[in-house]
Amino acid sequence: MNFKGRDFLKLLDFTPEEITYMLDVAAAFKRLKHADIEHEYLRRKNVVLLFEKDSTRTRCSFEVASADLGMKSTYLGPTGSQVGKKESIKDTARVLSRMYQGIEYRGFDQSIVEELAEYASVPVWNGLTTQFHPTQMLADFLTIREHFGSFKNLQLTFMGDACNNAGNSLMVTSAKLGVNFVACGPKELWPDPELVATCRKIAAENGSTVTLTDDKEEGLKNANIVYVDVWVSMGEPEELWAKRIALLQPYQLTKEVMAMAKPDCVLMHALPSFHNTETTIAKDIEKKFGLKEMEVTDEVFESDRSIVFDEAENRMHTIKAVMYLTLSDGEEIKHELHS
Ligand code: CP
Ligand code: NVA
Repeated sequence: MNFKGRDFLKLLDFTPEEITYMLDVAAAFKRLKHADIEHEYLRRKNVVLLFEKDSTRTRCSFEVASADLGMKSTYLGPTGSQVGKKESIKDTARVLSRMYQGIEYRGFDQSIVEELAEYASVPVWNGLTTQFHPTQMLADFLTIREHFGSFKNLQLTFMGDACNNAGNSLMVTSAKLGVNFVACGPKELWPDPELVATCRKIAAENGSTVTLTDDKEEGLKNANIVYVDVWVSMGEPEELWAKRIALLQPYQLTKEVMAMAKPDCVLMHALPSFHNTETTIAKDIEKKFGLKEMEVTDEVFESDRSIVFDEAENRMHTIKAVMYLTLSDGEEIKHELHS
């Protein structure tokens, strides 16, 4: 298993064995962290975190994981640097590679992070693009494995805007790890047919299936996991809200909808989530559309079926594993792997 020097741009680039190994390493780091055992394996290295979109979990995970590994990190936000305005991605990649041992990028089209990686001479990690959110996936599948013990005989149903970064990435990762994947939502928002075909082929190799449906009962009846996400993603125009609400309100995850799934079904969500009106955007939506909850009701979000905060914690352990494996020979963690 050799990750040193590699980029982490999308999970299509990794084998099931490599993804499983990243999860194992993340679980090992989680044990060390919980036992408060020092693991500064990457002392004297520096990483840069380039965010063209806002973040709480991803930024904090990269910062805490860097510190735990003994590294220093520099945060560059949506404003305050030259990126994009005065300096191209190509030039930025070459400048940052002279100062840092790794570059995280969150932003817009997947082609931007791919270009950054092409011109950088150090590993580039995708912290979310319009099409994919791969670090989220490692956290999600670590959480699933912790909760269910393995990936065998599981169905994950993504309900909502199935062609967004979370929907696409869940389809890819489910296919890689042999989890049955169902995209449940209006046809207008189904994932790209080419990506579906690729994922179906990968799923078949790993003993699972990829299904698309606009029928809630059909989509949920065998679900062990129901995954929902915001109806309008970062970077999409505000004017989309009216259209998306009309399309996606029938797919809101209420207690009654949750009851269509298997009795052991859990709720997952990358977060942040619109499950109440305690934020400025939610208040604005309430004023304009009269909605107090969106993709999931507060009742389901706060219920004992919800494992969303386990997912959030696992962002940090999994991002630590990605940075560690791509920046080292991966030797130090081996003693902890099978303990
Ligand atoms: N889930 C996730 O990526 O959260 P942030 O936008 O807060 O990083
Ligand atoms: N689909 C969401 C995911 C946030 C973690 C977005 O891109 O805004």
